[in-house]
Formats: sequence, structure tokens, C-alpha cells
Amino acid sequence: MVCFIWLLFLVFSTTFVCAESDDKLVSLNCQSENHGVFGQNTLLKCSATCKTQEMEIVSLVWRRAGQRKPLVIHSKGREESRTEDRFQLTQKQWTGTDIDVSFLIKHTKRTDEGQYECILVTDSGEDKAVISLKVTANYAKPEMNSIPEKDIKDDDKVTIFCNASGGFPKGMIHWFDQIGTNWTRSAELTEVETQDKLISLFSKFTLRASSSFTVYKCSVLNNKGEEEDSAEFILQFKQQQLGTGTPEDDKNTKAIVAVSVVIGALVVGLLVLVLVRQWRSRREYTGHFHLEFAQIGLSDCFTEKLHLLW
Ligand SMILES: *[C@@H]1O[C@H](CO)[C@@H](O)[C@H](O)[C@H]1NC(C)=O
Ligand SMILES: *[C@@H]1O[C@H](CO)[C@@H](O)[C@H](O)[C@H]1NC(C)=O
Repeated sequence: MVCFIWLLFLVFSTTFVCAESDDKLVSLNCQSENHGVFGQNTLLKCSATCKTQEMEIVSLVWRRAGQRKPLVIHSKGREESRTEDRFQLTQKQWTGTDIDVSFLIKHTKRTDEGQYECILVTDSGEDKAVISLKVTANYAKPEMNSIPEKDIKDDDKVTIFCNASGGFPKGMIHWFDQIGTNWTRSAELTEVETQDKLISLFSKFTLRASSSFTVYKCSVLNNKGEEEDSAEFILQFKQQQLGTGTPEDDKNTKAIVAVSVVIGALVVGLLVLVLVRQWRSRREYTGHFHLEFAQIGLSDCFTEKLHLLW
């Protein structure tokens, strides 16, 4: 009986302590720095814990720091409301000692970057956390073109463009020719901010055309200097100008020459073989005749003439 009373007291006291809304009992544990990628889903991870007992969430609010209007709000007994369908709570369980209260941003935009507040009220206490989000965007595969577009001749002045859009923060564009020479210093880079707060890069490289250097490559790098994508461009020379050509063309001509040499050698070999065989059989034949004529006893003069005829 004493034991039971003591147990009752214990349960009561802990409930009481937690219900006293001692903030230290209920706490939000969030990842304070978050990174999102444009167009993808971003999860701002947070969990609510109560050290001593099971709690029930009375209300949960996620909002932009410094703004009153919640992006999403859950309150007990009411329907969840959100300002945009992109903003969601992942958890559907509202009681426990460790509750996931993460905030999901779908199709992350550049403008989602900033500070967020998570405000939690439970039957056992409340807490608040500030979370920051940075959003980066990957550049699309660069697109290339040239002016003039085609019928280029040796020594012509040609400008090649390499444009990469949809990235953030500002990246770089590097230029290389077919043997890997770095032409980045000779190129000119400009950037333009688009409506959705992303950056488009425009790079322009002007050169004196040479028909032995027809392939140019540009690669787009993020602000950490990591390559995100690259593209290759082949200058369209006037047809007869393509002598030395690209490495690919070189390989093709080499292959054609090799095949021709082999076929040529085979034909010559066969011809020689046929000639030798003919010559041999002829010699055997006349030799045979010689013998027969001699045996019959014809004059040497006659066999000589016959030989000539053959
Ligand atoms: C790249 O941008 C330049 C300058 O705006 C433009 O002249 C060129 O046509 C663009 N090239 C491609 C492939 O979009
Ligand atoms: C190419 O040149 C640029 C500008 O000088 C430099 O930043 C870059 O590191 C070089 N890239 C390579 C692969 O050498």
C-alpha cells in the first residue's frame, strides 16, 4: 500500500514537473544550417523531445523569420493549413517523447533561401528554434554556337559562344581546344540574373580559325570550382578546307589508308602468284616438248622455232 502511494506520488510529480511548462523538459533539436538544391525537395530537420514523459503537441508553426504569417500550422483538433502546397509537415503523429516536426519544402526555389522559425507548443512545455537555409542551383548543360556558323576558312575571325543557364551562385566557364590547351583567359564572361533569381552565364571566345583545330570544349563550374557539365563544339569549315581535320577524321583516313594498303598488297601478291604459276607451267610444258621432239628426232632448229611460238 505504501509502495502504491509512493508510485502514485512519483507519477504525479513527474507529470506535474513536465506540465509546469519547464522549457528545458521540452526541446526542439534542429539542424541549424541547411542546404537545398533548386528544383528538388528540401527537408528542414527538427525533432521535439520531452525528457520525462509522453507529450502532446498543441500547436506547431513554421514561418519565415521576422514574419507573422505561418507557412504551415498544425493545431490540435484543427486541420493543418499551409500558404502553399509546396510547404508540408512530414509527421502525422502528434504524441510521444520524441516527435519528428520536420518541415518539407517541395520543388525548392531560390527565394526559399533565408531564416525559418519553428515554434512548438505542447502540453508539457514549449520551445522555439531558428533554422537557416541556403539554396544552390546546378547549371544546365552549356549550349554552344559560333559566328560565322559555317563555311569557315583558315585565318577567319570566329567567335564561339558558350551559355549555361539556371545556376546559383555565380559560376565560371572554362575553354579548351582539342589538345587541351586552356583558352579561358582569352574568353569574356558575363552573367545575368534571371527572374527566378538564378544566374545565366554567357561566355564568348574569339579566335583565328585554323582547320587543324576544329574542336572546342567549354565546361561550366560551380563557385567551388567543381565542373558541373561541359559541351563540345566543332567549327564548320568550308568543305575543301577540311584537309587535316579533326582527330576523328584523322583516324578515319588512317583506317582507309591501312585497308587500301592491305587490299593493294593482296592484289599484287595474287597477280605475282598467277604469273609465277603460268611461267612455271609454260616452262614445264616446253621442256616436255623438247624431250619428245628430241626423241622423235626432229631438228633442233624446228624445236627452237616451236619454243619461240610458245
Ligand atoms: C549565347 O549568348 C549569346 C549572347 O547573348 C548569343 O549571341 C548566342 O546566340 C547564345 N548562344 C546559344 C547557343 O544560346
Ligand atoms: C584554365 O585557366 C583558368 C584561368 O586562368 C584557370 O582558372 C583554370 O584553373 C585553368 N584550368 C585548367 C584545367 O588548367
